[in-house]
Amino acid sequence: MMSKEETYQMLVSQIKALIEGETDAVAVMANVAAAIHETMGFWWTGFYRVIDNELLLGPFQGPVACMHIGYGRGVCGTAWQRKETIVVPDVELFPGHIACSSLSRSEIVVPLFAKNDRGRVVAVLDIDSKELANFDDTDKQYLESVCRLIESAFHCIYSKGE
Ligand code: SME
Repeated sequence: MMSKEETYQMLVSQIKALIEGETDAVAVMANVAAAIHETMGFWWTGFYRVIDNELLLGPFQGPVACMHIGYGRGVCGTAWQRKETIVVPDVELFPGHIACSSLSRSEIVVPLFAKNDRGRVVAVLDIDSKELANFDDTDKQYLESVCRLIESAFHCIYSKGE
């Protein structure tokens, strides 16, 4: 059986190959969400894009989810506001957590930045697990590198209303 680190290394190679030469943000997010979800066996894996000054649901795998999240709201809106990855070991202990699924127990949210403006969040990668404390520094490190890969693959990742 592969360690989590080895599984992530395989996943990153797969994602590099998948997105090579691809420039459509939605197509890239769709396949990246599927690759992460299938490989890692998470409960919910997807993206929210910053559109008209809110987070709007993007490509994802898993059960239906809330479509709109405000700035500073929930884990996703807080990661957008702080411009940094947030690891939540127990969602019930995160003030303002938005429960899209009652089965989600822990969560990680990684922001994506505009290529030409590293201070501007254009989307977030959100992952939920049915296990408590499922995410650690290994997840953070590899999921952040996946987000960096996606950003560099985009010719034009943008958000309206800014
Ligand atoms: N739990 C998130 C909302 C998105 S769902 O998990 C898919 C949050 O608190 O921002």
